[in-house]
Amino acid sequence: MHVLSLNSLSGSLPDLLASGASGASSLVINLAYLIAASLFIFGLKQMSHPRTARRGNFLSAVGMLVAIVVTLRDREIVGYGTIIAGLLVGSAAGLVLAVRVKMTSMPQMVGLLNGFGGLASATVALAEFLKVYYDPNRDPRIDTLVTICLSALIGGVTFSGSITAFGKLEGWKIQGQSLSRPITFPRQHALNALLLLLTVGLSWLIVRNYEASLWAVALLYLLSLALGVLVVVPIGGADMPVVISLLNSYSGLAAMTTGFVLDNYCLIVTGSLVGASGIILTKIMCTAMNRSLLNVVAGGFGTGEMAAGAVPGAGGDVVVRRMDAEEAVMVLESASSVIIVPGYGMAVAQAQHAVAELAAALNKRGVNCRFAIHPVAGRMPGHMNVLLAEANVPYELLADLSINSEFEQCDVALVIGANDVVNPAARSNPSSPIFGMPIFNVDKARTVMVCKRSMNPGFAGIENELFTCPNCVMLFGDAKSVVGDLVKQLAGGH
Ligand code: TAP
Repeated sequence: MHVLSLNSLSGSLPDLLASGASGASSLVINLAYLIAASLFIFGLKQMSHPRTARRGNFLSAVGMLVAIVVTLRDREIVGYGTIIAGLLVGSAAGLVLAVRVKMTSMPQMVGLLNGFGGLASATVALAEFLKVYYDPNRDPRIDTLVTICLSALIGGVTFSGSITAFGKLEGWKIQGQSLSRPITFPRQHALNALLLLLTVGLSWLIVRNYEASLWAVALLYLLSLALGVLVVVPIGGADMPVVISLLNSYSGLAAMTTGFVLDNYCLIVTGSLVGASGIILTKIMCTAMNRSLLNVVAGGFGTGEMAAGAVPGAGGDVVVRRMDAEEAVMVLESASSVIIVPGYGMAVAQAQHAVAELAAALNKRGVNCRFAIHPVAGRMPGHMNVLLAEANVPYELLADLSINSEFEQCDVALVIGANDVVNPAARSNPSSPIFGMPIFNVDKARTVMVCKRSMNPGFAGIENELFTCPNCVMLFGDAKSVVGDLVKQLAGGH
C-alpha cells in the first residue's frame, strides 16, 4: 500500500527521471496533484473566515479542476473534447443549483452531494473488484481487496444514509407517514451492530477468497445500503445538519479508501481532508449544542416530553407583554446600544435584507447596533453569517459569543427568529435538554424584544422562560414583515 507523504512524491524523482518520457509525465502528474492538494489546503484555511471564504472556495475549485483534468489525461480515459464538454455540462448544472437552491435548502443539497460522493466511491470499488474477478492474470494484493471492501461499505452507507437524510429534510412521506420524524423500533441499535458485524465478516471472506466471493460482494453492498438507511431513520429531521456533516466526513473516508484502491495520491489527500474537516465540523456542532454525537445519532431529540404540545406557553396559559412596531421604534430610537440576535426564524422569513436595513438605519442615527451570531443559530454552520453577508452587513458588525459580557450594558437586545440560543434554561435549569449549551445572555439587557410568530418552541421543543421575563416584550409576527414595519416607522419618524 502506498503511504502518502511529500517524501514519497519527491523520493521517486530520480526513478521517474531515469525512466524517460513516461517518467517525466508521471513527475508532471504528481506535481499537478501536489498543486491541487495544496490548493485544497489553502482553500480550506481561507474558508474559515467570512472575509476570505469566497477566495478559499475559488482556490479549492481551481484545485479540483486541476485534479480532474490531470486524472482524466493520466489514465487516458477520454480526450480533451470530452473533458471540456463534461466541464461545461457540470458547471451549468452547478450554476443552476447555486442560483436556484434556497439557503434554507442548503443542508439537503449538501446531503445529496455527499450521497453522490459515496455512490461514486462504491461504484469505483465494484468496478475494481470486477476487474480482478474476471481477469485470471491479475493477482490482487491483500490491501487492494481490503480497501475495495472498505470503499464499498463506507460508500454504500454514505449513499443510502444521505438519500434518507435528504428525504427527511424534504419531508418525504412513506404510506402517509412523514419521514422527517424519528423512526424508532425496539433493538434498533442492536440490529445496526449486527449488520455492521456481518459486513466485516463478508469482507473477511472476500479478502480470503475473492475468486469465489461474487455473492459476498453483492451481499456486502446490500447490507451497507440497508445500514445507511437504518442508521439515519431514528434521527429527527432538525438534527439532520449534524448527521449530514458526519456523512460528509464518511464521503471523504470513502473517497480516501478509493484513492488507495486506485493508487491515486490526489484522491487520498482530498478524501482525508474532507473526512477530517467533516468530523471536526461535526464535533464543533455537537459541542455548541452541548450534546454528544452519540446523543444525536441515537435519535429522538425534540420529541416525546419535549414536544410542542408539552410546552405550557403553547397552550396560551402564559402572560407575556406585547409591543407594536410604533412603540418598539420609540424604544430603539432612544437606545444608545442595540444588539440584534438572529436565528432560524430570520432564515425562514428571509428577513435578512430588512434586518440589514434596520441595523443600517439605527447606526445612521448614532445608535451602536451590532449582531450577535451564535455558532448553531439556524440549521447549519455559518447559516446566519451567509445570510447577513448576502444582505451586505459589514463583517465588523458581527460578533460571536465573546459579546456576552456586553449585554448588561446594552439598552436593547433584539431577538429575531431565535429561540434556543437565547434560552436562559441552558444556564439555570440542569434538567433542561439544552443545559450547558452556551447562549447569549439577552435577558441581562435593559430591554429584550423578541420577534417570532407565536409562543411555539424552537428546535429543542422546550419552553423559553425569557418570554415571561419582566424586561421582555414580544413583537409577534413574521420576521420580514415585523422588521419591515420597524424600518418604515424609523424612516417615517424622520
Ligand atoms: P430555534 O430555537 O429553532 O427557534 C427558531 C424560532 O424562529 C422559533 O421559535 C420560531 O417561533 C421562530 N420562527 C420561525 N419562523 C419564523 C418567521 N417566519 N418569523 C419569525 N419567527 C419565526 O432557532 P435558533 O435560536 O436559531 O436555534 C437553533 C437551534 O437549532 C438550536 O437548538 C441548535 O442546537 C439547533 N441546530 C442547529 C444547527 C446548526 S449547525 N446551526 C444544526 C442542528 C440543530 P414561531 O414558530 O413562534 O415563529
